[in-house]
Amino acid sequence: MHISFRQIQIFQTVAQTENFTRAAELLHMTQPAISMQVKQLEENVGLSLFERQGKRIVLTAAGRAMHTYTCEISAKYQGMVETLEELKDVHQGVINVSAANTSIYFITRMLAGFSQQNEGITVSLNITNRKTLVEQLQNYEADLVVMGEPPSNLDLHSQRLMCNPLVLIAPANHPLAGQKAISVSAIIGEKFVVREPGSGTRAAIERFFAEHGHTFTSTLEMGSNESIKYSVIAGLGLGIVSLHSIRLELETHSLAILDVQNFPIQRYWHIVTREGKWLSPAAQAFKEYVIAEAATYSQDYQQLLLA
Ligand code: PGA
Repeated sequence: MHISFRQIQIFQTVAQTENFTRAAELLHMTQPAISMQVKQLEENVGLSLFERQGKRIVLTAAGRAMHTYTCEISAKYQGMVETLEELKDVHQGVINVSAANTSIYFITRMLAGFSQQNEGITVSLNITNRKTLVEQLQNYEADLVVMGEPPSNLDLHSQRLMCNPLVLIAPANHPLAGQKAISVSAIIGEKFVVREPGSGTRAAIERFFAEHGHTFTSTLEMGSNESIKYSVIAGLGLGIVSLHSIRLELETHSLAILDVQNFPIQRYWHIVTREGKWLSPAAQAFKEYVIAEAATYSQDYQQLLLA
């Protein structure tokens, strides 16, 4: 049984108007062309779909059965057209953004600025650690990912956003606070509170100590930068965190950055998309906004390090 989409549209319009002439007007066709299409459809189906009742054309039992389906098909078609139209519009839509835990200190501010300018766009922000971000890229889940170093084993488009210096922090009253050029050997025996395995920050710390000939052992592991900061302030150990995460604590002098040789560990933030994943105009606009904002933030944070 072959039924074309055009025939469904014609059937649906005739069923709704109960009038060939009116249906022809709505579909910009001639009345004989409509009659012919309906006849052909009835032949294809093998059943009469309409019957004449005086001037009206009404559905037969078979026509009514078909009509329940064509209503659904027409509604779905309309929905599809509207969704596709929305996707063409840079001012509308939903964007799925996934970002590293440590990026919340700037990505939330950027998101607020973008949302103010683009009220029709909803950004769904998923905050997680590096390990999960890599899995999401692998599975084409997120439209855009904000992360530290992008994995090298996947086909990605990645753009560097700004520096992400990892600094060594201590309570403000720590004996090493204020000392200059402390050696790595002098701090390696200290207690450390660091991020969990799977975190990009953690991987960078381990790489740094290995490169300097030391094996890094943590005393306490925590899943968030906030818990690390509170632990360090409470005196549970030293911490190594992104400079982006300690802005407030530096302003209130509750934490100090220790001047350790070869610190900060220099890392970068990237905005990443999976090769082959289509970016909607809205997602593209968000990406461009983040790239432009990052340039300003970068200067701002460098000042923090110098202060
Ligand atoms: P993280 O990621 O929050 O998982 O540590 C940040 C980074 O990769 O630098």
